Amino acid sequence: MKKLLTLLLLLCINFWTYGQKITSPNGQLELNFSLNDGKPEYALDFKGKAVILPSKLGLKLKDKPDFIDGFVTYNSEDDQVDETWEPIWGEEKSIRNHYKELLVTLHQDATHQHRTLNIRFRVFDDGIGFRYEFPSQENLAHFIISEEKTQFAMTGDHTAFWIPGDYDTQEYDYMESKLSEIRGLMPQAITANVSQTSFSPTGVQTSLMLKTDDGIYINLHEAALIDYATMHLNLDDENMIFESWLTPNANGDKVYLQSPSVTPWRTIIVSDDARDILASRITLNLNEPNKIEDTSWIRPMKYIGVWWEMITGKSKWSYTDDFPAVQLGVTDFSKAKPNGKHGATTENVKKHIDFAAEHGFDGVLVEGWNIGWEDWFGNAKDYVFDFVTPYPDFDLEGVRDYAKEKGVEMIMHHETSSSVRNYERHLDIAYQFMKDNGYNAVKSGYVGTILPFGDNHYSQWQVNHYQYALEKAAEYQIMVNAHEAVRPTGISRTYPNLIANESARGTEYQAFGGSKPNHVTVLPFTRLIGGPMDYTPGIFEMDISKLNPDNNSWVNSTIANQLALYVTMYSPLQMAADLPEHYEKFMDAFQFIKDVALDWEKSLYLEAEPGYYLTIARKAKGTNNWFVGNVNGNKSRTSSINFDFLDEGKSYIATIYADAKDAHYRNNAQAYEIRKVIVNKKSKLSQLSAPGGGFAISIIEGNKESLKGLKKL
Ligand code: NOJ
Ligand code: CA
Repeated sequence: MKKLLTLLLLLCINFWTYGQKITSPNGQLELNFSLNDGKPEYALDFKGKAVILPSKLGLKLKDKPDFIDGFVTYNSEDDQVDETWEPIWGEEKSIRNHYKELLVTLHQDATHQHRTLNIRFRVFDDGIGFRYEFPSQENLAHFIISEEKTQFAMTGDHTAFWIPGDYDTQEYDYMESKLSEIRGLMPQAITANVSQTSFSPTGVQTSLMLKTDDGIYINLHEAALIDYATMHLNLDDENMIFESWLTPNANGDKVYLQSPSVTPWRTIIVSDDARDILASRITLNLNEPNKIEDTSWIRPMKYIGVWWEMITGKSKWSYTDDFPAVQLGVTDFSKAKPNGKHGATTENVKKHIDFAAEHGFDGVLVEGWNIGWEDWFGNAKDYVFDFVTPYPDFDLEGVRDYAKEKGVEMIMHHETSSSVRNYERHLDIAYQFMKDNGYNAVKSGYVGTILPFGDNHYSQWQVNHYQYALEKAAEYQIMVNAHEAVRPTGISRTYPNLIANESARGTEYQAFGGSKPNHVTVLPFTRLIGGPMDYTPGIFEMDISKLNPDNNSWVNSTIANQLALYVTMYSPLQMAADLPEHYEKFMDAFQFIKDVALDWEKSLYLEAEPGYYLTIARKAKGTNNWFVGNVNGNKSRTSSINFDFLDEGKSYIATIYADAKDAHYRNNAQAYEIRKVIVNKKSKLSQLSAPGGGFAISIIEGNKESLKGLKKL
């Protein structure tokens, strides 16, 4: 680790306006901090042009003087860090953390009790992060933040890729519009969800992706959301100023803190090349280093599951239709008549274990294995699940032993039904039960209204719950994939057992009426900025009525697009979500899912435009193999790929899984072509992608024998 420290101390007393400037290591970004009439402000320039106009900083406190004005003096310190660190898993083997820092210590006047507030800025080559810090002091012990007033003043009416601001869900399709159009589009953007709480006609969620008319890409998000409320952004659409909008607790307050403490980082990633937004590691870098000493149990996983059949309505999570209401410990399931549609039967699970073992998958997820699903949904029950009692037709021990014999890991499922108190009460027992039965990973879920009533999915208390469940899981050496939890903010650097989250509109919505065909060209610029998503790709049968005649949903994607997602939607946890019998029909395409790696030496972002296309090449960790994925938006497009990332003097076998010429996400989704060719460093590929389509390529180093008979690209 190379750390360079320069210390510069400035003392500025009673200046009406005083400025402090700091540039990125490469000099392209310039951050200006100033105290203007006692109020702190910042502004950001990129290559000499403003990207964030002077924007106010500050916080309103409940029943106490605010941290908005009355600042009379400040000190500032500069620092510079250049280090590299190795993530336990990730898009690349080592990550450079290179920034210049400005720490401003602000002092308030007597009417504000002479209090001190620190603002720490870090300026990287590809963006900035800043946070408020509350040093320990006599006049600030315990305090309540009633509003955070951080502004992001835009330079114009930019294009935004946005979803409605909401305290309870991120499961929305993205809208592409001018900032000035958000208000008008909001009613149609708020599509139905089982728990949703929007707050403003111009409120949007982060990570927010923006593009200016002169081609500057700006991404707004937060890093290290710990013990604080989730930040949304509210737009003043007359002045084009976003302001932070925190998710309230049940009583309407935003955040309860005591000093010393810090807020999460507010992040602004900036570039004139969209690919740099995907390559940015700011969010991870602004999180604390790994806190788990022994990480040998944290492993990327490829899995299948007894899942899609329930999501599509082909089968059910519940076991019986006998009980209009269930009471755990009272209702006797042993005498109940099975409904004949239960998915998690021993027999079905064993079939899945066989399929996983045959095709080299690490794990099998089973949902609906535990009692309580009969009346869980929509009834606001506190005690819905105990997380340890299987249905009579699921032989937990038998399945455990069978999986072990076949070398497959079982993945646990904890639907909490958003009864958070109940989950915390059972957490130790539930995790211990997992360890006793060989489960090392859990998919948890928070469907429905948070109980106890009044709280929201993204409040400080809920954020603390997800963190508690994660840290406790680490104690038990359990990996967590939380659905419906708050969207990630790079916390997996500190707790790498957070191997994925959902926290966005995942593949399940393709069976709930469908998602926009270009959805997956937006997610890497938004949801994935904070960390990996359990997107659950790999659907080969797009006509959902074939699984369930009562479900007319259509998966808006081609098979080649589904394959590409294993590369473009980075996650150390990847599901092959479709039914084994659908893979059996397309074994040649399925081969890509079997081959694709989960952990990467490096990632190259070859082509990218949010909402339209992206192409990523990744080198599998510890090998010389590469995997390329392209996903395409609504119109067909031809990619130009240059293979100059390959090693000099080596020949590789490229297997290209592409859309057929007449493929289309709606009319001809299963039309693909596979070809095998020889490629080297000088090769170039021109490849067509269909609307809602894409391509996937595996590139394996060849030898004399394996290259025999193959043609050059
Ligand atoms: C919603 C999750 O996203 C989905 O994957 C899961 O199957 C259901 N909740 C049931 O827990
Ligand atoms: Ca979900």
